[in-house]
Amino acid sequence: MKVLGVETSCDETSAAVVRDGGEILSNVVSSQIALHRPYGGVVPELASRNHLRLINSVVEEALAESRTSIEQIDAIAATYGPGLASSLLIGLNTAKGIAFATGKPFVGVNHIEAHLYSPLLTNAATDALPMVSLIVSGGHTILAHATTIGEHQILGQTVDDAAGEAFDKVAKLLGLGYPGGPEIEKRAEQGNPAAIEFPRSMLHDASDNFSFSGLKTAVLYFLRKNPQHCVEDVCASFQEAVVDVLVAKTLRAAVERRVKTVSASGGVSVNRRLRKALADGCKDHGLQLLLALPGLCTDNAAMIAALGYHKLQSGKRSDFSLEVAPSIGLGDGGRG
Ligand code: KG4
Ligand code: ZN
Repeated sequence: MKVLGVETSCDETSAAVVRDGGEILSNVVSSQIALHRPYGGVVPELASRNHLRLINSVVEEALAESRTSIEQIDAIAATYGPGLASSLLIGLNTAKGIAFATGKPFVGVNHIEAHLYSPLLTNAATDALPMVSLIVSGGHTILAHATTIGEHQILGQTVDDAAGEAFDKVAKLLGLGYPGGPEIEKRAEQGNPAAIEFPRSMLHDASDNFSFSGLKTAVLYFLRKNPQHCVEDVCASFQEAVVDVLVAKTLRAAVERRVKTVSASGGVSVNRRLRKALADGCKDHGLQLLLALPGLCTDNAAMIAALGYHKLQSGKRSDFSLEVAPSIGLGDGGRG
């Protein structure tokens, strides 16, 4: 079964064709990062205007690259939330339009849920589930326990800033570019992660929740007190504080829930320091680690098509009354 996936929740216009939820035939991602960079963040009005400009050609390119005609597509899946309302509308309505015109089945997909299951896309581990999954992106930091695809429980989440948001805000404080994650990672490679003792918020807290706004404030105060700071050391020490907490809490949750698999997904999971620390920790605890390929960690339509396939297989269909849900959480994933 070939599913056409469409994703426009934030600043990437993406379309993909995925066969049977696991074989990526195409995954076209048109990034608007350069467009938003001068503003230091995503400008919703600009994003939606550009989704509208790009979406038809991105869909056509995804079909062409996969050597599939629209008639050979079996179903269409699109992100309906969470994200920017004006951006979501473009992808969702395009997908509905294609489904209506072709009479193919259509299903709405929750963007966070698609991130959660994205490590399964290219890791054919049949015994992967149940797993404890860390979803770390610009908008979310969630620990979830997934028993089968589509059945999951939130164990904990950030009580303030998302991890990616902390990377972006600290990069801004340091006068680095947008998005902040890759900029900080690059400089951290030349810095000393033990140079500055930044706080590890909620590390020993009994819950599976996270907090990153205190860390961001600690960096701000440090920079004010130390105008002659070494940027590389600040980046390395900040990154280490984030990674320490993410890894320790993910491993603890996996051990407590007695799962054999840990997975990580979302834009921040591209970070090589985080990937290495997770790999080391999982090795120490005898856990299997599933990571999405870097190109599938950030926003993309392949993960939407893949989860769409599983939803369709379990009999789910959305009708054309499905509206965008900008603030939907992971817990609401079954609604589409
Ligand atoms: O999943 P994503 O593409 O979009 C959302 O759904 O939010 O994640 C984007 C976030 C941004 O905050 C960005 O700074 C962060 O992922 N990010 C990174 C890295 N690459 C992207 N954070 C840390 N290290 C990276 N290499
Ligand atoms: Zn995302």
